[in-house]
Amino acid sequence: MSTLRDYFEDGPIPWTKQHILGLEYLSREEITLILDQAAEFSRLGELGITKHPLLSGVVVGNLFFEPSTRTRTSFGLAAKRLSADTVDFSPSGSSLSKGESFLDTARNIEAMGVSLMVVRHKTPGAPEFLSQRVASGVLNAGDGTHEHPTQGLLDLLTMRQECGSLEGKTVALVGDIRHSRVARSNIWGLTKLGAKVIVCGPATLIPPQIEKLGVEISYDFDAILPQVDCINLLRIQFERQRGAFFPSIHEYAHLFGMNRERLAKAREDVVILAPGPINRGVEITPEVADGAHSVILNQVSNGLAVRMACLYLLNRRQQQLLLQASTAEHV
Ligand code: CP
Repeated sequence: MSTLRDYFEDGPIPWTKQHILGLEYLSREEITLILDQAAEFSRLGELGITKHPLLSGVVVGNLFFEPSTRTRTSFGLAAKRLSADTVDFSPSGSSLSKGESFLDTARNIEAMGVSLMVVRHKTPGAPEFLSQRVASGVLNAGDGTHEHPTQGLLDLLTMRQECGSLEGKTVALVGDIRHSRVARSNIWGLTKLGAKVIVCGPATLIPPQIEKLGVEISYDFDAILPQVDCINLLRIQFERQRGAFFPSIHEYAHLFGMNRERLAKAREDVVILAPGPINRGVEITPEVADGAHSVILNQVSNGLAVRMACLYLLNRRQQQLLLQASTAEHV
């Protein structure tokens, strides 16, 4: 494993991406680098070393065009832990209501000295659109049903902590795969790290051709329980659903909810994850969510370390680009 020292020293770092837009666009090595970096921040945090001067003088813009609790607060805290200044934007009370565009909003925030932008938007591709039009490094904090890369990374880090290497492990993603950006980021990340992925849910919530991403499909949660090492319970995204995808919440919970009876059919050491927010009593019963197999709050803690790692690596890239540009000017 690489150490923080490797990255903190002045030499070149093995990181060349200006943006983190999805795990689809990162290699296995890049994903591992972020996880190792996050694990190191986490280890230092446990030793009480929580504040680092690494982003001193840097301004991070948190642009959340959609609601968030975990992602927004942990990106904000991650920036502060790295000594960055932050600018927070939310649509409520902003000049969007006067007709200002998404791009003009971002460009105006960038003009305040922002060099790293964290962007959440309901439209898939919105962070990528910005990344092609601003000089800042852009971090996708969730774009519609497309990807949520830092959630995928924190899920990977949590599973890696629980299981060791993910190579050869079996992970079930259960629930609303169709509307889930977390499912897509998990699929890209897990398959790149060598895990077998089973997506499971009602047929109406499994998108067509998902098997082309290298996953297996199951419509029978009980049948797959004995073979899985980790279960990631994805929320039913009522806010993104435009039709009736199952007859009733009660029936969904009966067939796909994680409860005490299903836990008894799973492996003794099964790891239960859920990205949050959770619908208690729908995807998961409170006793399982708060029980010994659940790592839901570890995921939240790991989110902070993962976001520190992403901000740190992207800032290093920004510095390299600035240096290259100023060298080119003087040649
Ligand atoms: N898991 C997640 O993205 O939660 P928030 O919507 O609260 O950020």
